[in-house]
Amino acid sequence: MSALIREGKVRIGVAVNGECRDLLCEPRQSLLEVLRDTLGLTGAKEGCNNGNCGACNVILDGRLVNSCLVLAVEAEGSAVTTIEGIGAPDRLHPLQEKFLEHAALQCGVCTPGFIVAAKALLDAEPEPSEHRIRWWLAGNLCRCTGYQKIVEAVEDAAAAAMRTSKPGPARASAAAAASD
Ligand code: FES
Ligand code: FES
Repeated sequence: MSALIREGKVRIGVAVNGECRDLLCEPRQSLLEVLRDTLGLTGAKEGCNNGNCGACNVILDGRLVNSCLVLAVEAEGSAVTTIEGIGAPDRLHPLQEKFLEHAALQCGVCTPGFIVAAKALLDAEPEPSEHRIRWWLAGNLCRCTGYQKIVEAVEDAAAAAMRTSKPGPARASAAAAASD
């Protein structure tokens, strides 16, 4: 449980990208503010600050949320995944590789939110239809790419993940032989 301590600040404990963080915040502060200003995780962006653009997306206890609409105190005891926990410059997530491959990005404001949303989608639905991808990404605004390349990048990332997770013909027949 969080506890009011002094000068109106609240102590909260949050697991951010797998690391337990204890921090002080004001009750009015959004999760986005605390991630960026207190923890220095600036991957989530403040676009609209009212839930319309998806630039601030993070995954909170497995659910995709707009961190500008979540109070930091509401994240007490939760697990938060930001774009920094998904990939890094020297170890890109497969989704990030596909965004690059498909030229599905132009700026750093909207792209982290798209990647986080796509990650949440593929975690929940590894084989989404194009319709589902478009529906899932409907909360993310981009003013320049036209969305088509983004959708194709997510489709391709899903297909690649399925290829590596499903046994190929050789592995499937070996597995069948082993189970006889
Ligand atoms: Fe949160 Fe736009 S900044 S939805
Ligand atoms: Fe960022 Fe379009 S690439 S707004």
